[in-house]
Amino acid sequence: MEKNAPIGFFDSGVGGLSVYSKFRNILPFENAIYYGDLKNLPYGNKTQEELIGFARNILDFFKSKDVKAVVIACNTSSALAYDFVKDDYDFKIYPIIQSCAKVIAGMQAKRIGVFATEGTVKSGAYERELLKYKPELEIKAIACPNWVSIVEGVNLVDADFDIKLHLDEMMKFIPDKIILGCTHYPYLLEKLTKFAPRNIFIDPAEIFVDYIKNDLLLTDSCNLGFEEFYVSADAESFIKNSQLFYNVKKCNNLNACIGNFS
Ligand code: DGL
Repeated sequence: MEKNAPIGFFDSGVGGLSVYSKFRNILPFENAIYYGDLKNLPYGNKTQEELIGFARNILDFFKSKDVKAVVIACNTSSALAYDFVKDDYDFKIYPIIQSCAKVIAGMQAKRIGVFATEGTVKSGAYERELLKYKPELEIKAIACPNWVSIVEGVNLVDADFDIKLHLDEMMKFIPDKIILGCTHYPYLLEKLTKFAPRNIFIDPAEIFVDYIKNDLLLTDSCNLGFEEFYVSADAESFIKNSQLFYNVKKCNNLNACIGNFS
């Protein structure tokens, strides 16, 4: 696959940007296309058939753009559509839940809570994927049907009340960690951390983008771009002193290349 080809990202709306922005930070030279399926938002209450149809339409769109890979940033689509579309395209498809499960299961936690959409919770996808790696885990998934509309700014409920309601229910389970299993939910962290400590929450986006990066590197399809450093003298000391600010690995001594004009 052409390294310069773009990577496609999709989600039902703005939620996937929480994944995209982290991806951009660690792979700034990749070409990228983002698709927000606002016409069909929210995904959380759609049937599996509908979600498979949305995923196919979007993957066909990305195919027409000659992408080298597609990131399903959406948990609901990963839970309910990925298995049915994954073999139909000749580019790699990265689903968020399946890609993060191993790292999350490996964390110091025996009891894991999951906040997700109704669709993701009903699918049992988080339980299925996490238990593959740590069968002794205890997992409780709770659907938060109003949280996407709260984030998208079309909420009809009292956001603080609704958030506390679900969090109180979750805390009775005494979780060691709580996965924010919908890409919209990290936008609610400020509100969530009014009622529970920050370090209890897992935003899978961080784990996900590391997984994608490692996989692209492994398959030699990562576009790292290039950077060149030139100095007019003392390349070795520049490399050594640069470590305070930036990890410069190789530096060209310009005078050595083109002559000394001083
Ligand atoms: N943001 C999506 C997810 O990660 C779906 C939200 C929705 O549209 O209901 O599940």
